[in-house]
Amino acid sequence: MTRQQAVEAIIEKRRKMVNSAIEEDLPIDEPRRLYEASRYLLEAGGKRLRPTITLLAAEALADVAVGSEEFRAFPAADRSPVDIMAAAVSIEIIQSFTLIHDDIMDDDDMRRGVPAVHREYDLSTAILAGDTLYSKAFENMLDTGAPAERSVRALSELATTCTEICEGQSLDIQFEQRPAITPDEYLGMVELKTAVLYAAAASIPAVLLGHDEAVEPLHSYGLDIGRAFQIQDDLLDLTTPTEKLGKQRGSDLVEGKQTIITVHARDQGVDIESLVDTNSVEAVTEAEIDDAVAELERAGSIEYARSTARELVDSGKSHLDVLPENESHELLNNIADYLIEREY
Ligand code: IPE
Ligand code: IPE
Ligand code: MG
Ligand code: MG
Ligand code: MG
Repeated sequence: MTRQQAVEAIIEKRRKMVNSAIEEDLPIDEPRRLYEASRYLLEAGGKRLRPTITLLAAEALADVAVGSEEFRAFPAADRSPVDIMAAAVSIEIIQSFTLIHDDIMDDDDMRRGVPAVHREYDLSTAILAGDTLYSKAFENMLDTGAPAERSVRALSELATTCTEICEGQSLDIQFEQRPAITPDEYLGMVELKTAVLYAAAASIPAVLLGHDEAVEPLHSYGLDIGRAFQIQDDLLDLTTPTEKLGKQRGSDLVEGKQTIITVHARDQGVDIESLVDTNSVEAVTEAEIDDAVAELERAGSIEYARSTARELVDSGKSHLDVLPENESHELLNNIADYLIEREY
């Protein structure tokens, strides 16, 4: 088994647990069309990376083995039981909500290998499905059984995170109209749109379990690896075939997104606007994207993105020193590496 396969097995084990918890914690209600649309993307798949990080952080802090009796009732610092899985489900529900709305904003038709919610259903239903998930996530986060003061802190962190995601998404859209942005502007934007959810996923377990000393370090870990994750997402958009990615390859180029790759390439004199010749995802050809990638490679932009992501992951891992030395701590290091080594 390669190192990558080993990490995938670790994620797979927790993905199954998260999936059954989602099944239980997100019941279908009336009107059926709304609830079916809300569950549709959650059931279509998804890597479940963020809830896996939530579980791993809790496992590391509480020194609990996955699959043990305690798995839904992690012992907190004061030994009171906390249902961390409810928090993990909440994080994944937020993730799915942001994807539904993101595909509307980015005008993307495919997600998790199936038609996006606004394509499978309709625009209004997709907006409402996203909103429903958004509020359900707060209900789930309230359901961990943690003492009131810690629950309020977790909810507050979740609320701040959601506001920041909106700020990041707003910048992402505004940057499409800008002729150029700086690498720091890019990193600030992805911190908001993507990394804050990783930071919440990693640090909320410490809040709920009463491990105050670990909240800040886990938050910083999440911010670093989350930015690295987004850089890898930008790279995969260029390099991974649509069928494997479950979303349209090359869509960032077609949509005129500012990514760390295009920001670097523009600085090297590459004419980004002429890399692809169309503004429709249906019309862009594989050959056109291959040529664009070759040009970005020649400019050193792919390598620049990879090394920036690597530095962020190394910095992220360095924040974990405060955690107890146990297997789950090591797995948090491994999943950080996986975020930039993954191929989809
Ligand atoms: C996609 O996230 C959204 C980004 C922040 C880039 P993932 O690649 O984790 O998507 P799923 O949840 O596995 O579908
Ligand atoms: C998504 O960034 C960030 C959020 C969903 C908040 P992208 O727009 O790059 O994500 P994908 O590539 O569509 O998954
Ligand atoms: Mg998108
Ligand atoms: Mg987007
Ligand atoms: Mg993307």
